[in-house]
Amino acid sequence: MKKVLMVFGTRPEAIKMCPLVKVLKKKNDINLYVCISAQHREMLDQVISVFDIQVDYDLNVMHAGQSLTSVTIEIMNKLESILDSLQPDLVLVHGDTTTSFAVALSAFYHKISVGHVEAGLRTYNMYSPYPEEFNRQVVDMITDIYFAPTQIAKDNLLKEGKPESKIFVTGNTVIDALKTTVKNDFCDENIDWAKGKRLIIFTAHRRENLGNPMIEMFSAIKKLSIEYEDVRIIFPIHKNPKVRELAYKILGDCENIRLIEPLDVLTFHNYMSKCYLILTDSGGIQEEAPSLGKPVLVMRDITERPEGIKAGTLKLVGVTENSIYEETKILLDNKSVYESMSEAKNPYGDGHASERIANLIVSYLTNKDI
Ligand code: UD1
Ligand code: UDP
Repeated sequence: MKKVLMVFGTRPEAIKMCPLVKVLKKKNDINLYVCISAQHREMLDQVISVFDIQVDYDLNVMHAGQSLTSVTIEIMNKLESILDSLQPDLVLVHGDTTTSFAVALSAFYHKISVGHVEAGLRTYNMYSPYPEEFNRQVVDMITDIYFAPTQIAKDNLLKEGKPESKIFVTGNTVIDALKTTVKNDFCDENIDWAKGKRLIIFTAHRRENLGNPMIEMFSAIKKLSIEYEDVRIIFPIHKNPKVRELAYKILGDCENIRLIEPLDVLTFHNYMSKCYLILTDSGGIQEEAPSLGKPVLVMRDITERPEGIKAGTLKLVGVTENSIYEETKILLDNKSVYESMSEAKNPYGDGHASERIANLIVSYLTNKDI
C-alpha cells in the first residue's frame, strides 16, 4: 500500500486540504497520514473541528511572536523523524505558506516526491505577497506532480519550463469546501444586527500590509462607516497581535463596525453569502466570493488570482486610504457598477477538484496512465 503524507498548518491551507483528506481517505490504494504543523493554532483547530478530520501528527510549532525563521526551522526539525520513520511515497503540500515551503524542502532533502496542490499561482513580485511568492516558486522547483487550479496557473508553470506531463488543471478545492458550508436559512446575532442594512465584510492580515498600509485601510473603512448610516461592517480579526492591536486602536469605538474573533469557516462562508460587498487583502476570499456573486475590493496592488478580475467580480483598489475609500464609494453609490460586479461567476472550479486530485495521486503512485 502506498503512503501519502499530507502536511498543512494555517487556516487557508486547512480549508482547502480538508475536502481532499475526505476523498483520499476513501481510496483503497493508499494510506493517507495527516500532519499539521500548527503554524496557526486556534485558527487551524477551528477548521479541523468543522471538517471533523483525524490528525495523525501534530508538530505544534506555533508560539507567540514567531518569526519566519523559527517556524521554518521548527517544522523542518520536527518533521525529520516522521519522514525517516514513515517513509511516505508522496508528500502533499498546499499553496504558499511557510509550512508548505519548509515541508517541501524537508521532503526534497529526504528524496521523497512532492505533490503541490494550488500550484502555479504567481505575481512575479517577490515582495507581494511576501514571503508567499518566494515560497510557491521554490515549492514548484521541488514539485513532482502539480495540481494547478486554473489554466492560467498551468500556463505560468509551462512558461517556467515545468514538464507538461506533470501538470494537471483540477479546479480549486476551496470551491469543494464552499459547496458544503453555505446554507440559505443561516442566521445568527450578527446577521440580525445587519438586517435591513448593507453588510460589508472586512478582513486584512497580509504581512506586507502590517503597519502603514493597514493604518490606511482601517482609516478608509472608519470614514465609510461614519458616512454611510445604512451600512454595517463586520471585521473578524486575524489572531496576529499586530493586526489586532491596530484594529482596536483605530476601529474600536465605531458604532457601525463590529470587531469580532476569527469565525469558523462555516459561519464565515455564510456571512459572505449574506453580505453586500467584501473588502479584503486575503487570497482565498478572492476565490470564494465570485461564486457567491459578491463584489470584492482587493486591498492590494497586484494579485496572483487574475481570473476573478477578468470575470469582473474582483477589483484591485490598492492600499491607500483614498483609493480604498473612493472605490468603495463607487460601489455603494452606483447601482449599475454594483450589479455588473455582483453577477455570480466562478472561474475557480466546479466543486470536484478533490476527486480529480485524489484520482491523479492514485494513478501517479500506482503507475497507471495519468
Ligand atoms: C500565514 C501565511 C499567509 C496566510 C495566512 C493565513 C506565511 C508566511 N504566511 O500568515 O500566507 O495568508 O497565514 O491566515 O506562512 N496567530 C495566533 N493564533 C492563530 C494564528 C496566528 O496567535 O490561530 C498569531 C501567531 O502567533 C503569529 C501571528 O498570528 O505571531 C502571525 O501568524 P503567521 O503564521 O506567522 O503569519 P500569518 O500572517 O498568519
Ligand atoms: N475565513 C474564515 N474565518 C474568518 C475569515 C476567513 O474561515 O474569520 C476563511 C475564508 O473563507 C477563506 C480563508 O479563511 O477560505 C482565507 O484565509 P486567510 O484570509 O487567513 O488567508 P489567505 O487566503 O489570504 O492565505
